[in-house]
Amino acid sequence: MEKTFQYFSEENLENFQNYLLSHIEKNSGTELEAAMNYSLDADGKRLRPLLLLAVLEAFNEKVEKGYPAAAALEMIHTYSLIHDDLPAMDNDELRRGKPTNHIQFNEAMAILAGDALLTLAFEVITLGQLSAETKVKLVTLLAETSGYKGMVGGQQADIDGEEAELSLADIESIHLRKTGALIKMATVSGGLIAGKETEVLESLENLADELGIAYQIRDDILDVVGSEEDLGKGVATDAALGKSTYPSLLGLDGAFEALGKRLTKAKEAIHQIEKRDSAFQPDLLVSFVDQLALEEYQ
Ligand code: IPE
Ligand code: IPE
Ligand code: MG
Ligand code: MG
Ligand code: MG
Repeated sequence: MEKTFQYFSEENLENFQNYLLSHIEKNSGTELEAAMNYSLDADGKRLRPLLLLAVLEAFNEKVEKGYPAAAALEMIHTYSLIHDDLPAMDNDELRRGKPTNHIQFNEAMAILAGDALLTLAFEVITLGQLSAETKVKLVTLLAETSGYKGMVGGQQADIDGEEAELSLADIESIHLRKTGALIKMATVSGGLIAGKETEVLESLENLADELGIAYQIRDDILDVVGSEEDLGKGVATDAALGKSTYPSLLGLDGAFEALGKRLTKAKEAIHQIEKRDSAFQPDLLVSFVDQLALEEYQ
């Protein structure tokens, strides 16, 4: 399986994971809780919560301040994967190294486990010691980035685009919503929790746009060159569904090149934050971006 993004010590990562999993009862005996835990307590890379916590650390803030927002974000992401795998969507049978939620349980349970993780996220994000004003901003951002203008809208456009002739600009717009929006939640909420000004939040948004597109290009490349064993999910599924992707439009070399360009732009956005905020330490986020490069496949 692909590794979790490295920057945290094992101990810190375990602390966060314990926090993440503490919101759902383990042994209640109900099938719904079992289905929620099944997908959340699995080998996800935790990219989005770790990015949020890395932004806080880059601003020299205590990462624990970000635990509720980071956990909420991972819950939303996990729900999006459970629904993405349903027969009516991508119809996949393997996720995070295990049978998908609807294969392990059933379709109704997978739909409900997704719904329940989505709503639980909005409860969890209000926890902790931040001001009520900051919490309202975080809730609003989570709603906007996960909803019809963000991830859900992107998923709808992605399905709409199956078997259609999409341009690179169309694909980019889908990537920005289906993947970029939750990454925007990760970077911008780090800035909100650290109490940063609008200008800095804008730079964090620029970073998320580059990272969001890069991350989906990377995922689409891995769907072509990766193995089921390494990824813990099915491969060659995009071509089977007739999805337009960077590799299908530009070829593999073109897609690798596009990934490299986006990662360079992401690093430029990181340096823009550095210019706008003297407390900001760029190295951690630069190393985060470098881990997305897929050098081992080129
Ligand atoms: C997969 O996300 C879906 C995309 C938006 C590309 P991840 O690659 O972050 O999946 P997990 O969380 O590690 O399972
Ligand atoms: C999924 O994109 C994006 C989501 C919002 C879940 P994909 O459909 O390419 O993700 P995988 O490849 O199934 O993880
Ligand atoms: Mg999909
Ligand atoms: Mg999918
Ligand atoms: Mg994919």
